[in-house]
Amino acid sequence: MTAPLPPLPGAPWIAHQDGELMVEQVALPRLAETFGTPLYVYSRAAIEAAARAWSDAAPGRAVSLRYAVKANSNLAVLRLLADLGWGFDIVSAGELARVRAAGGDAARTVFSGVGKTDAEIAAALRAGVQCLNVESESELRRIDRIAGELGQRAPVSLRINPDVDARTHPYISTGLRSNKFGIPQARARQAYTDCAQLPNLQVVGIACHIGSQITETEPYLDALDRVVDLVRDIERHGVTLQHIDLGGGLGIRYAQETPPRPDELLGALYARLDAAGLGHRPLLLEPGRSVVGNAGLLLTSVVTLKSSLERHFAVVDSAMNDLMRPALYEAWQDIVAVRPRDGAQRRRYDVVGAVCESGDWLGRDRALDLREGDLLAVLSAGAYGMAMASNYNTRPRAAEVLVDGAQAHLIRDREDVSALFAGEHLPPRR
Ligand code: LLP
Repeated sequence: MTAPLPPLPGAPWIAHQDGELMVEQVALPRLAETFGTPLYVYSRAAIEAAARAWSDAAPGRAVSLRYAVKANSNLAVLRLLADLGWGFDIVSAGELARVRAAGGDAARTVFSGVGKTDAEIAAALRAGVQCLNVESESELRRIDRIAGELGQRAPVSLRINPDVDARTHPYISTGLRSNKFGIPQARARQAYTDCAQLPNLQVVGIACHIGSQITETEPYLDALDRVVDLVRDIERHGVTLQHIDLGGGLGIRYAQETPPRPDELLGALYARLDAAGLGHRPLLLEPGRSVVGNAGLLLTSVVTLKSSLERHFAVVDSAMNDLMRPALYEAWQDIVAVRPRDGAQRRRYDVVGAVCESGDWLGRDRALDLREGDLLAVLSAGAYGMAMASNYNTRPRAAEVLVDGAQAHLIRDREDVSALFAGEHLPPRR
């Protein structure tokens, strides 16, 4: 007897049934026929369940959830979260426009980001965002000037850099002193007291975000300890803070990771906050990946099977331009056959795209039994998949589908090649 296979990330909404991979009640071969591949497919029920795990995580506590738009910014995803009462965390005027187009509430939107331009600051103030998470002393002065020009008082929260190690991939660690993010902990109190000299600012909170794909509670607790020390110090100096924003960052299971659940994380955070006498203070969180990551997959077809003298390659019709995480971070995401075969011709394949780079791979050394034309699903692709897609090699970006029970809704058209050079101009010939 063979042992039952462990559930896929995304289960129970993404699972094999009668020999076919299903998203909720929709079989993926049907989606491939209707919409073509490569195709991003998301489960509405999985997104909602992940969102509810956050909303139900700390009953009786004042937790405000601000979905990090960068993780997956499709309007349909944003509207789902807005309908569940979530606000948003944005990092550009473009994301602000998306939030508004999806019916999100600017008054429950926080604007993070290390390089907000004057135009973006003005757009955020005009829209009436909840606050700007400020990343430097010079940005504070710029916001003060722009708010003055608009005749407004700008709500600000200072993003501090607590210098803690999130123990994640270096490219997605943001809370170390060597990172570009935030105001150093050691200068934070001065920055807060300086705000009193800037007439067009209103201090509303303190923020920090130490990284992404964090799979342990300890780095959050380390950051919280630093924030608590600062809150006490700052308030002793006469500045009152309304909220504490601890950012996003909670990891998901790609392979064997066992990150804490939102209720476990918040339980630990509140134990510390209670001990510090701050358990009543409104908390803001900015989860992204943990809301959508395991709710989506990238559906792709095998174009060619080929072997070099050393390796077997499955060349598929999606590539690093569709899903950049493996190429950029050497990230591991599970790749499964949509209709698994009997294994008689199983080989170890590098699953690669058609882009002209040797770094263009989606998975390496994967045991798969494949024929040309087979469908594969790259799992855990709901976050930082489509949102990071590009047109490299003049490849149109994939379509996106949201499955809801037995229904499949196209939520983004496949890009048309002509659109890729529609904005380009030929100068007169010499
Ligand atoms: N808040 C701020 C200020 C952030 O910079 C981020 C993510 C989040 C919230 C959401 O973090 P999450 O809950 O999603 O971990 N492209 C990378 C991840 C970059 C994350 C950047 N900041 C990846 O694919 O792993």
